[in-house]
Amino acid sequence: MLVLGIESSCDETAAALVRDGKTVLSNVVASQVEIHARFGGVVPEVASRAHAECVSRIVEQALAALPHPIPLPVGEGERARAVDALAVTVRPGLAGSLLVGVSAASALALAWDLPIVAVHHLHAHAYAPYLAGVAEYPFACLVASGGHTSLYECRGPLEVELLGQTIDDAAGEAFDKAAAVLGLGFPGGPAVSRAAAAGNPGAYDFPRSKLADGDDDFSFSGLKTALLYAVEGPGMKGPKLGLTEKIRSDLAASFEQAVCEVLVGKLLRAATRRGLGTVSIAGGVAANRKLRAMLAERASAEGMKAAVAPTELCTDNAAMVAALGYHQLARGEGRGPDRLALSIAPELERPVRRKR
Ligand code: KG4
Ligand code: ZN
Repeated sequence: MLVLGIESSCDETAAALVRDGKTVLSNVVASQVEIHARFGGVVPEVASRAHAECVSRIVEQALAALPHPIPLPVGEGERARAVDALAVTVRPGLAGSLLVGVSAASALALAWDLPIVAVHHLHAHAYAPYLAGVAEYPFACLVASGGHTSLYECRGPLEVELLGQTIDDAAGEAFDKAAAVLGLGFPGGPAVSRAAAAGNPGAYDFPRSKLADGDDDFSFSGLKTALLYAVEGPGMKGPKLGLTEKIRSDLAASFEQAVCEVLVGKLLRAATRRGLGTVSIAGGVAANRKLRAMLAERASAEGMKAAVAPTELCTDNAAMVAALGYHQLARGEGRGPDRLALSIAPELERPVRRKR
């Protein structure tokens, strides 16, 4: 079954063709990062407009991987036979952005008379390690991006249980805010990581919030404030720290160390508690080299396997959406006249708290 996936939940417009939930034929992503850089963060209205401008082109590029590519606008018959179904992200994300992808996918499903399924963006991220062929079920997966820090127990493509998530900032958001405090660019993750490479991770003792807590939730706002106070003085009342290259590198390295210790520490502890021998990280933050190295080292020390997908499947993409959508289609979702009544759900649900 060949599925066309469409993803537009945040600031990447993406389309992909995936066969049988596993073989990626095309994976096209248009990033809006340069558009948002001057605002220092993603501006929702700007994001939805940018999605609307390029979604047709991105879909067309993804369809070019078909044996007999046919240009948009949509014809009938032949193309409908080439693609078997559609999968689109409906939650969570920015409302206007989600709507663009859902509208595009629904229009194609209507025109081609094809099944269409509604995909959960974070469940799709958590499918990436399996899609990439680096992890077999079951495994624990931490999805850490600019908008989310969510920890899942994954027992199968559609058997994912949310164990915990951030109660304030997301891990990627923390990197972005740290970069702003340190006068580095947006997006902050790569910039902080570059600055950290030359720094001493033990130079500043930043808080490891919630690392010692027994739950699976995360918190990064205290760490962000600690960095801000280190630079601007306690309570932002000065004296202001002169940001030399050396001080900036040490601050970045100490900040990165604190984030990585919390992410890796809580992921490994949850995996141990749940009896999971494989641990993974997905989302944009998974691009972080220190995080990957720390996860590999600590997982191996605990006798676990660390399995992280290549970066192009970790950051926002539609291959993970098409691939997970296949499993929803295989269990019978997405058919019938009601299939086009897709509704978006921007917010993320809370985990069901179980008694320990
Ligand atoms: O998954 P993603 O591409 O988009 C969404 O947020 O959905 O993730 C982007 C986030 C940004 O916050 C960015 O700063 C962070 O991932 N990021 C990193 C690195 N590369 C990207 N954070 C830490 N280290 C990196 N190397
Ligand atoms: Zn994402």
